[in-house]
Amino acid sequence: MRPRLSFRLFPMKKNWKTKLIHSDARVPEGFRSLSTPVYRASTVLFSNAAAVSDDWNQYEVGYTYGLYGTPTALELAGRICELENGVRTLLTPGGQAAISLINFTFLKTGDHILIPQSIYGPNRNFARAVLRRFGVEVSFYDPTIGAGIGELMKENTRLVWCESPGSITMEVQDVDAIAAVAHARKALVVLDNTWAAGVYLDAFAHGVDVTMQALTKYVGGHSDLLLGSITVKDEALYRQLGATHQLVGCAVSPDDCSLALRGMKTLAVRIKAIGESALELAKWLAERPEVEIVLHPSLASCPGHEFWKRDFTGATGVFSIVFNKRFTKKQVEAFVDSLELFEIGYSWAGVTSLAVAYDFGAAKGRPGYDHRIVRLNIGLEDVGDLRSDLEQAIEKMKSA
Ligand SMILES: Cc1ncc(COP(=O)(O)O)c(C=O)c1O
Repeated sequence: MRPRLSFRLFPMKKNWKTKLIHSDARVPEGFRSLSTPVYRASTVLFSNAAAVSDDWNQYEVGYTYGLYGTPTALELAGRICELENGVRTLLTPGGQAAISLINFTFLKTGDHILIPQSIYGPNRNFARAVLRRFGVEVSFYDPTIGAGIGELMKENTRLVWCESPGSITMEVQDVDAIAAVAHARKALVVLDNTWAAGVYLDAFAHGVDVTMQALTKYVGGHSDLLLGSITVKDEALYRQLGATHQLVGCAVSPDDCSLALRGMKTLAVRIKAIGESALELAKWLAERPEVEIVLHPSLASCPGHEFWKRDFTGATGVFSIVFNKRFTKKQVEAFVDSLELFEIGYSWAGVTSLAVAYDFGAAKGRPGYDHRIVRLNIGLEDVGDLRSDLEQAIEKMKSA
């Protein structure tokens, strides 16, 4: 016979209003499925008065408060950690929150931080607007600097950020060389591992101490959630981060974690298909006379391509193109506006192709691509249709 809802006799006679809060209804045990349950909670129950504890490290003390993650969040964190070959992972409400939490954890007034010019814009802006206000010395470096970073290191350099490939301009960094120099000078190396989805670059094998990812991107994979992760190579870094995480109050939504867990199941097939289409389109664009350079890490034309070949096991679907000098800003914008399948919007790595035009005209330390650079995010549409779309938009740009 199938188990039925059971009602236990309760010694206390309860008013219906109390029953709304303290029910005796029970469901059958033994349910199994393939999906991780969404555990929503702020309050977490303790078994007795003495067990009450406000400790963030739930791996050691058990569950204490929803802010530090319910089992849904902890499962996602554990799975990201496993994929990145780290020791522990903490989740944040977005990639940008992961960036700021890392900086808040490891920096103090008087420290110096080195950041590549190619870093994700809000990461750069956080350093300029917030870290400097708190008395942290901020320097930006050429992402292709490699071991030359030694010349920029100071007595007080505490953190060296890397992002490989860099945002929009796509420079692949010599992370091994940077890490060797940074470690010799007792600085920590942090890497934004979002483009590689935490799987195409084994960051810890290349000397990185802390990685972060915008899970918003490939792990989520469907442009409908915001989440971030921070993964560390040892327990001491985890303790430092965890203590700050608690005080900054970086709670994540269990519903978003559940979506990310679902996204993970198809990550391999999505990035394989997206990566193949992106490379095919990148090669096709490289042959077009209107294009000056294609910035795709698997093409020799991309700065640092040799480090992609040495360190990465694959390429995902974001790359940039730079049009020839004869094209005006208006024409480049006409190219983007003429695309019919590619949508215009931030946040990449979903299943829909996107295009965004950038203007580096006055940006210090960025290559001279000025208004001619367009970043493409390749999705899961048919690659032939995407190529036709790019082709017709290039024709319209020429006559704009
Ligand atoms: C490389 C990179 N890192 C971090 C982030 C920030 O992620 P989120 O949008 O989840 O805050 C982004 C977002 O575009 C990004 O492109």
